[in-house]
Amino acid sequence: MQPLQYPTTTMLMLFFYSCLCITSTTNLANADAGIKSIFLLAGQSNMAGRGGVINDKWDGYVPPQSSPNPAILRLSADLNWQPATEPLHRDIDYFRACGVGPGLAFANSLLQIDPNIGVIGLVPCAVGGTNISQWARGGHLYNQLLQRATAAVEGGGTVKGLLWYQGESDTVTREDAESYKRRSERFFDHVRLDLQLPTLPIIQVALASGAGSYVEKVREAQLGMWLVNLRTVDAKGLGLEPDGLHLTTPSQVILGEMLAQAFPQAHHSSVRAVTSKASRMHRNFVTQFFDYIGF
Ligand SMILES: *[C@@H]1O[C@H](CO)[C@@H](O)[C@H](O)[C@H]1NC(C)=O
Repeated sequence: MQPLQYPTTTMLMLFFYSCLCITSTTNLANADAGIKSIFLLAGQSNMAGRGGVINDKWDGYVPPQSSPNPAILRLSADLNWQPATEPLHRDIDYFRACGVGPGLAFANSLLQIDPNIGVIGLVPCAVGGTNISQWARGGHLYNQLLQRATAAVEGGGTVKGLLWYQGESDTVTREDAESYKRRSERFFDHVRLDLQLPTLPIIQVALASGAGSYVEKVREAQLGMWLVNLRTVDAKGLGLEPDGLHLTTPSQVILGEMLAQAFPQAHHSSVRAVTSKASRMHRNFVTQFFDYIGF
């Protein structure tokens, strides 16, 4: 993975091409009312949501920033769209009590930043306690993510981003922490390839906490990752539940708003669309680039 670590001229070109491409798909989607902007939510417990969960019981409190909105839907475990309500992951991460996560605060905030974005479809996929190796291509979690993403677009809509908050379980051994960068870059590349969205925006969260003592090592990996259209928001310093591992409800609201701010389309929505020929050229270019580096 050496070639991905330093921005070369080629990669910078790729980056600027990508921005143009994303903008063009946004505007096309907005022109066609009823097309959903779909976001995949994956990772472990802090993405699934443990805000307000104490002793494996949720207190039931939903802050105003996370309240339901007619323009925000969620894909249930049995693949039906329904009004999104907390806890978003209740039927996905069902072995534990789920509470408030970042998803609804993200979507409400995105609607405020970009009221033209239309209906937002959230696709919860996160499962507590999972390490990056369990998310590798071919595994159950990976397959479920792909299946749910595929089902999500069936009724119309576009996958606009992956929100990823994971890594707490990779802080226990030095070896896992040291392999984290390589493993997560591989995971991101595979998701983009298999969804045929080579520049899919990914917003990941740098850890606020961890299950082991190598939190700083994993954070270093996250903050030092350089991939096209990958952005990293830093959760360090956000308030934690008494378990020292899980973000509180107010922290999840802040995180959701940070994720919305980091979403690239929000800042470029006024840029004019480029021609579809340019996007096709761009896609071929990106595909060839990934073929070249061996994915
Ligand atoms: C990841 O978690 C699984 C299930 O708990 C475990 O079997 C596996 O050893 C872990 N992998 C790594 C590389 O830590």
